[in-house]
Amino acid sequence: MPSPALVPLPADVSPTDAAGLRLTGAATVSGDPGAVAALRELVRLRTGLDLQPAPDGGTIALTVTGTGAAESYRLDADAAGIRIDGADAAGLFYGVQTVGQLIVGDADGWTVPAVAIDDAPRFGYRGVMLDVARHFHPVETVTAYIDRAASLKFNHLHLHLSDDQGWRIELRSRPELAARASGSGVGGGPGGFYTREDYRAIVAHAAAHHMTVVPEIDMPGHTHAVGLAYPALAADPVRDAAPDGELPRAGEPYTGIGVGFSSLHPADAAVHAFATDVFTELADLTPGPYLHFGGDEALGTDRAEYAAFVARVSGLIAGLGKTPIAWHEAGAAADLAPGTIGQYWSFVTPAADAADHARAFVAKGGRLILSPADAVYLDMKPSDDFPLGLTWAGGATSVERAYRWEPTDVVDGVAEGDILGVEAPLWSETVRSLDDIDALAFPRIAAAAEAAWSPATGTREERTWESFRARVGTLGPLWTTLGIRFPGSPEIAWTS
Ligand code: ACM
Repeated sequence: MPSPALVPLPADVSPTDAAGLRLTGAATVSGDPGAVAALRELVRLRTGLDLQPAPDGGTIALTVTGTGAAESYRLDADAAGIRIDGADAAGLFYGVQTVGQLIVGDADGWTVPAVAIDDAPRFGYRGVMLDVARHFHPVETVTAYIDRAASLKFNHLHLHLSDDQGWRIELRSRPELAARASGSGVGGGPGGFYTREDYRAIVAHAAAHHMTVVPEIDMPGHTHAVGLAYPALAADPVRDAAPDGELPRAGEPYTGIGVGFSSLHPADAAVHAFATDVFTELADLTPGPYLHFGGDEALGTDRAEYAAFVARVSGLIAGLGKTPIAWHEAGAAADLAPGTIGQYWSFVTPAADAADHARAFVAKGGRLILSPADAVYLDMKPSDDFPLGLTWAGGATSVERAYRWEPTDVVDGVAEGDILGVEAPLWSETVRSLDDIDALAFPRIAAAAEAAWSPATGTREERTWESFRARVGTLGPLWTTLGIRFPGSPEIAWTS
């Protein structure tokens, strides 16, 4: 009996020889109201069937048991019905997502095969990141990306809210940011920003899909836009990093895609007051436990001042009752707040100091989020001739390369327990729309989901590229009905 094709691969799947459930409009759904609504909507999108809610004893019964590992669920399907027991609301939600993948259509209608699944995530942090700074993306694009990510059992949305090209969130404490620093983007587009209400709406939509928003304000580098609003805080551009050879000018919007030329004045009291205002207000707006303060590619910042600055900002965030996250370069700072999380973005084989910097977070009681750029940066071209994307992370990233890596093999000396999770960033230098996001993210986002959720490579027969390739190909019809415009990657044999 072959296992049903599920992505990310569950912890344990036992197919049975018994007949599956014929899914018709006569089926009913009972149990947890949120899960009932989510399942009815998913089934309606996938099949057109309008399953009726029942007070109890439904064909499909959805229960939160309150026992078991966080986010885990048990799913039993046979000809009589489907029962999902979630340890918590998130676990039940993930069981519902699994049902969405189990539904198979044929000439006679819709079936869910007979199966027993015991599933729980490998890592507690399973993230996607969207860069809304290079190109601004409106609330409805962000919520659509939340829907896509949640369906693959991701539970964190990292929003990269500021960069050289624009500042994307309204803050009452610093009104000039939205007013003066948000009106541009790569290529000179119109830019934009989220009002505080917009941001709250994103947070609420994420929460309804069991996702936590992780806001990032990048500093001390990637801050050219801050200088449009508060010129005294920003140093003059220091390095000719723009690919067209033009050094950005202080006080003028930057519309290119160079990096590493900007810095706040890290030792200035006015910059510390700015960071305090920004992270205090962001902490107030953000119910989740994390605030990300960037710290990457501050190439023009004096090293000692950089170290003192990132240590100070990590302490500021910890003092606000949040857990700081920084890109791995901040591991160079001796005095980071204990417990600061490091986000590793070097390659699967670490370059230069990246592994040392990553280990430094662990040595200070923090853990790591792994985002190896040559595997999980979704903005890399999937093939050399792909119209969107970049290639700096070791050339085009095929679906196979996106799949073939193991989190515990990246940084020597970093064990399973030192890893908080896996995150797949999508930078938006070439990404203007939801269609562009879909075109780059899919299907590689599913490979990242498997690295984040599924048991380690080598521990299950099906945790292989060959199996993944076959399983992901069967998701085509579901993704199409969810409105996802994924490209027909030639590496995958898609079910039509
Ligand atoms: C990064 O890609 N600069 C974190």
